[in-house]
Amino acid sequence: MKNLALNNQWVLITGASSGLGQEMARQLAGLHKANLIIAARRADKLNELKAELEKNSGVRVKVIVADLSIPQEADRVIAESIADDNLYGAILNAGVTYFGRHTQLPWDSFESILKTNVVGVVRMTNNLVKYFEQPGKEGSIMLVSSMAGFFPVPYQAAYSATKAFITAFGNALHNELTNPKFSITVFAPGGIATEMTDNSKFNELKGWLMPVSEAAKEGIHAFITRKYNYVPGLLNRVGNVFMNFLPSKFISGKMSKVYLKSLNKSAQQE
Ligand SMILES: NC(=O)c1ccc[n+]([C@@H]2O[C@H](COP(=O)([O-])OP(=O)(O)OC[C@H]3O[C@@H](n4cnc5c(N)ncnc54)[C@H](OP(=O)(O)O)[C@@H]3O)[C@@H](O)[C@H]2O)c1
Repeated sequence: MKNLALNNQWVLITGASSGLGQEMARQLAGLHKANLIIAARRADKLNELKAELEKNSGVRVKVIVADLSIPQEADRVIAESIADDNLYGAILNAGVTYFGRHTQLPWDSFESILKTNVVGVVRMTNNLVKYFEQPGKEGSIMLVSSMAGFFPVPYQAAYSATKAFITAFGNALHNELTNPKFSITVFAPGGIATEMTDNSKFNELKGWLMPVSEAAKEGIHAFITRKYNYVPGLLNRVGNVFMNFLPSKFISGKMSKVYLKSLNKSAQQE
């Protein structure tokens, strides 16, 4: 399958108001000269990014303010993105986490994680697949999952489960596609230094976090080269291979100790 050629093409990126999505937007515009549709809830952040990218990179940028945990909003984002019939790619990156004991996660917050990380992503993917599964239509979707979807992560139980869903869903769906010019990539980073991890609960884990610019660069590489499943960072990739040989209970047990230590230290500082 041919690599994506992004120059002057339109790419949708959700969760572009901060972190990985914002950085991928910067690199897609600056290095690859893609026109962007950027979506998230915070209008001010999206409008600032639009002004920055149009000024510095000379690309065109459309802003869509939407809450992707609401299915009708997710539908609207895709309807607006494909309205001109020129969408070439979509990076479904918006996501939320909860780091702590699962029993302390309020039900509303759990539902919000599920709706943002799973329901909204499936809803958008369904609409995008219909659009891209037309004869001759070239393009790709990238779903941003996580290494936390490869094995059960204690104290991020719900998050980890949503990302396991996304990885299985994206990989399975890729193998149902009939248009040879269309692909689905799953991007599964380990920890990244973003707003998501900029929290005292992650203090003990900060040494493991990848700079967001590196994660974004590898994400765009995975997108352009239409990888099936891609983990950024050599150490993460090697670790991931090793972990396949170890019992899930052993890995999850070790992680539980490290994560609990970080949570306890954060609680002591409060
Ligand atoms: N950071 C990590 O360690 C890490 C590791 C592996 C995978 N990931 C994944 O990478 C992706 C990006 O995360 P990040 O680390 O860049 O976190 P982040 O800085 O917190 O960014 C999350 C983005 O998602 C958007 N978002 C959240 N809820 C939304 C909603 N209901 N509707 C619309 N947009 C919403 C946020 O925008 P608004 O708040 O403006 O809506 C923001 O732009 C996520 O899918 C995450 O699971 C992160």
